[in-house]
Amino acid sequence: MPNDFSFVHFTDTHIMAGGAWDNGQVDTSASLRRVIETINALEPAPAFAIVGGDLTSPDLLDRGRTLASDEWMPSYRLLREIVGGLRCPAHFLLGNHDDRPAFHRVMGDRTTNLDATQHWSFDHGGCHFVGLDSLVPGKPWGEINAPQLEWLDADLRTHRGQPTLVFVHHHPWPLGLAWMDAMSLRNGEQLISILEHHPAVRWIVCGHVHQDYEVQRGSLTMLTTPSTCFQVSKVSQTYKVLAGPPGFRVVRVSGPALATRVLHLHGANGAAGL
Ligand SMILES: [Fe+2]
Ligand SMILES: [Fe+2]
Repeated sequence: MPNDFSFVHFTDTHIMAGGAWDNGQVDTSASLRRVIETINALEPAPAFAIVGGDLTSPDLLDRGRTLASDEWMPSYRLLREIVGGLRCPAHFLLGNHDDRPAFHRVMGDRTTNLDATQHWSFDHGGCHFVGLDSLVPGKPWGEINAPQLEWLDADLRTHRGQPTLVFVHHHPWPLGLAWMDAMSLRNGEQLISILEHHPAVRWIVCGHVHQDYEVQRGSLTMLTTPSTCFQVSKVSQTYKVLAGPPGFRVVRVSGPALATRVLHLHGANGAAGL
């Protein structure tokens, strides 16, 4: 049945070639390999994966200076190798720790206009999927630029009536954690006002916050997915990071019905830990 399928959303992979996060405490590459191994074991197999931004973050290894674009490339090459193990196609978003030119050079086939935003849409099983690029170079918060908002409105108009899911790295609605909400999507309400004009848009799915949340307003639901590596405390009102556990989201589409669950990889062996 074409409209009966599942897909996965995994995010904040934070690949850092040549190092590990937080003085070696979290090996983000090993963590992503475990997640991919688990995704490959899912039954039924997902039709595709959406990878939600903060794909790489060599900047976290060297916070004292501004890195050149070329310095992101080894991390994207490592990401490409690891994600190459996935048994389904992957669609990528960018986050605040990413670098557009390096992403395009390594992950895409673009050789000109390397600052172009990484936004896209596609159809699968009668549903419409949209990815937006909220990266503002050098800033922790996000913004969707005006050309993308225009493109989005036109794209949604031409897919009116199809159940639609929108993906973006930064969260448009506050979660109640002041320090995290200070780096949300700055023009989130502008984005939401466009989405609200298109009732076919059911969910907006984000990364960035390194935890799972669900916020509903009217007919629109915002979901966030935990990171494939380190997480952020839901309890502390100040910055507090936890070493894990790695997680990702599975979405099941069955006709007009959407269902989702977050899986966490507990224990030393991800697949067995589930
Ligand atoms: Fe992140
Ligand atoms: Fe982020």
